[in-house]
Amino acid sequence: MMKFDFEKIKKEGKEKIKKAKNLEQLKEIFDFYFGKEGKISLIFKSLKEMGGKEKKKIGQIANELKNFLKREIEKKENELKEKLKKEIEEREWLDISLPGKKPELGHLHPLTLITRKIVSIFQSMGFSVVEGPEIENEWYNFDALNIPKEHPARDLWDTLYLKNNFKSENKKNGKFLLRTHTSPVQIRYLEKHQPPFKIIAPGRVFRHEATDSKHEINFHQIEGLMVAEKVSVPHFKAIISHFLNEFFQKKVKMRLRPSFFPFTEPSFEIDILCVICQGKGCSTCLGSGYLEIMGAGMVHPNVFKNSGLNPKFWKGFAFGLGLERMAMLKYKIDDIRLFFSGDLRFLKQF
Ligand code: DAH
Repeated sequence: MMKFDFEKIKKEGKEKIKKAKNLEQLKEIFDFYFGKEGKISLIFKSLKEMGGKEKKKIGQIANELKNFLKREIEKKENELKEKLKKEIEEREWLDISLPGKKPELGHLHPLTLITRKIVSIFQSMGFSVVEGPEIENEWYNFDALNIPKEHPARDLWDTLYLKNNFKSENKKNGKFLLRTHTSPVQIRYLEKHQPPFKIIAPGRVFRHEATDSKHEINFHQIEGLMVAEKVSVPHFKAIISHFLNEFFQKKVKMRLRPSFFPFTEPSFEIDILCVICQGKGCSTCLGSGYLEIMGAGMVHPNVFKNSGLNPKFWKGFAFGLGLERMAMLKYKIDDIRLFFSGDLRFLKQF
């Protein structure tokens, strides 16, 4: 008597294996037949109770069935693994013909471009580039530059002071402040260097004033200083004229106008024929035909004295120009506030 319906088990098994959708289901099927309590495992267990011929016969059929199911499971397993591999490959497939997303490249700020341009022109004439601190004290920003305390000239520079509990060690230095111009770099350099020399000092400066299209509380200047035994106004004129021609890439007409700065004597203001309207009169030059571009003069004897140099022996000229102003003229920008607005529509034009 055949105790087991081997044909039925075989048919059912084949069907089940065929329907397995993934490796987890296949593992369940495997356990269903070959686990501890699995259908085939139980058949083999029951063989022990059988004897002789029956055992041999049933054992043989059971073995065939076992091999058959294991082969089917193995086949299915390979099939499922192959399918899985394909799926992963498809998911990771990259269409290299698709147009890519271009990473946006940054570029230099217009003020950086202008600084580099100006610096390179002065370097070509033998000037060295130096820097000074943005946090200054009253001595360097005012007193040493011959701007005495209580002198109305101090009102020319609307100063932002640091809080009083932050006092400088040296009493003479007075209160800390955000430098209102780059001129203090003159003193710092004169103190530590033996003339002759030619320097420029680009940097950021601060003023406590209302902002409009021409004024910012935070802007940049380039200071210039040349000291030697014999330096005079013609030296200054020649150097500045060369600088302006190089900067604007054309012959620029300039004029010196008498002015006043406490740290120079004589002092003058440099005007150039308006590069926008060529002197006809426009909104940039406010109809005058001329643009004021820098303050300058011959270094005041007190400035030499305050820096420990003998004014009888050394002569020099100094100048200070606004960087934003130069950039506005070069690129025809009509509002100084645009430089710090962070507006990409503006910045991307450079
Ligand atoms: N420091 C002056 C200012 O910010 C500009 C200036 C004028 C600088 C004359 C100079 C100079 O070196 O000689 O208004």
